Amino acid sequence: MQIELQDLHFTYPSGVEALRGVSFQIPAGQKLAIVGQNGAGKTTLVKHFNGLLKPTSGRVLVGDWDTREHTVAKLAARVGYVFQNPDDQLFSRTVAQEVAVGPKNLGYDAQKVESLVTDALTLTELTDQRETNPYDLSPTWRKMVALASIIAMDTPVVIFDEPTTGQDAANIARIGRIIQTLHQRGKTVIAISHDIDFAVENFTRMIAMGQGKLLLDGSVLEVIAQAETLATTYVDPPQLTRLATRLGLAETVYDQASFLSAYARWRKDPS
Ligand SMILES: Nc1ncnc2c1ncn2[C@@H]1O[C@H](COP(=O)(O)OP(=O)(O)OP(=O)(O)O)[C@@H](O)[C@H]1O
Ligand SMILES: [Mg+2]
Repeated sequence: MQIELQDLHFTYPSGVEALRGVSFQIPAGQKLAIVGQNGAGKTTLVKHFNGLLKPTSGRVLVGDWDTREHTVAKLAARVGYVFQNPDDQLFSRTVAQEVAVGPKNLGYDAQKVESLVTDALTLTELTDQRETNPYDLSPTWRKMVALASIIAMDTPVVIFDEPTTGQDAANIARIGRIIQTLHQRGKTVIAISHDIDFAVENFTRMIAMGQGKLLLDGSVLEVIAQAETLATTYVDPPQLTRLATRLGLAETVYDQASFLSAYARWRKDPS
């Protein structure tokens, strides 16, 4: 399901102009990472995708729906949004009940709800915690419950707002695997992330925002090559990318494999 933004502006009632004319499309099935400094407008932007916020001017289309013409409850069938802070979205007594809330609200019968819950708990490796109270889990695992409760809604678009914040390496790897699985299922996966390594490893397109506007939009490689523009929104390219630049390697690299092959070519011909 495609998402399209047309000259989106949004001003909070306090007068803060959080989005100042943002236009782009996200084709169905894309993996998109959104980066940019604190207050750049990233969360405000994605809250428009599921209708939590409505444009001050401009339009947001989710498939053929203009978000202004549909309720948040309706849009929830198309776009799942995992909050930046899991405690903003957890209310139930057990993990299984929590994860069932979304699919129940979408009106699925008990059998379908159960199969969606089972699948989401398997993907997030929470099967053993079905009867645990979410608040008895560590904050790291509460975040996984928040992920599971959105995955269980089986929406064509899934948005993660800062999924790796406060997570240990094992959970970051788990989240990476979940993203790949959702992608293989044909879903559009969007993440906001301050973790540039995570963004580069798991996504194909990258958008950098600053002060309510789009600064950069392209493949991950194209965007991380723009170190100067990224610096204006306080984003550092990955360490290996910066090291390669300092060495004077011609190509933009982002992981060990691409670094080593560029380095080998440079050793042969350092010109
Ligand atoms: N509920 C709100 N009321 C008023 N202003 C807000 C509200 N939420 C965000 N803002 C302001 O809107 C601007 C964009 O905020 P937003 O939360 O979208 O940024 P962000 O890129 O998600 O930042 P972060 O990386 O810190 O999460 C900021 O100036 C912020 O202070
Ligand atoms: Mg945010």
